[in-house]
Amino acid sequence: MMKRGAIIVFEGIDRCGKSTQVQLLHDVLQKSRSVELMRFPNRQTPIGQKINSYLTDKAVQLDDHVIHLLFSANRWEARNQMLETIQSGKSIIVDRYAYSGVSFSAAKGLDLDWCKDPDRGLPAPDVVIYLQLSIEEAQKRGNYGEERYETVEFQRKVKDLYENKMKDPSWKVVNASQKPEDLHNDIRSIVESVIQDVEHTPLNTLTI
Ligand code: TYD
Ligand code: MG
Repeated sequence: MMKRGAIIVFEGIDRCGKSTQVQLLHDVLQKSRSVELMRFPNRQTPIGQKINSYLTDKAVQLDDHVIHLLFSANRWEARNQMLETIQSGKSIIVDRYAYSGVSFSAAKGLDLDWCKDPDRGLPAPDVVIYLQLSIEEAQKRGNYGEERYETVEFQRKVKDLYENKMKDPSWKVVNASQKPEDLHNDIRSIVESVIQDVEHTPLNTLTI
């Protein structure tokens, strides 16, 4: 039987070091394995461009439900490509996924179950690596930027919502306050074993 690739999702609050770790993991794995990097939102598609304008321009007004559905649609439009990639034996490292969608929208006060519904049925991650960092430490890494959502109060709500998921068997929590090299080593050992473990197992769909 053909080996399939794994879907490896990264989640965490802003400033947790996620994008750095994702890039580093991709560069290192690429030397010995077939891997691809994806990030959500994908700001390149027409839907992604709309999301980008909402995130970067506070004059752009969208109902909270509407932007939630756009973030979800931005994942659905990548679904076929994700399935083809893993079926070809390539693993995908994903920077943010449905858990960002749910946590950021529910932090605004939207109903949690309503937030989960649109993402049900997407390809399920084989592992979710959660970069855990306190709000205080995230703040010490420099002021939050100009984008929407980058405030301490909001990030605190997002963190609480993420951490409700931590007991989920597919979640692996890593300590994002360590040195980048040590964090990378922790992440890499998790990822290497997941890639091997799932090679001959069917891919699930997201139940979230
Ligand atoms: P991202 O492009 O990862 O930005 P950064 O690299 O600066 O963290 O995500 C942009 C913002 O969008 C981020 O604050 C998280 C938020 N977001 C949602 O609200 N819903 C979603 O479904 C996703 C994927 C991200
Ligand atoms: Mg950000």
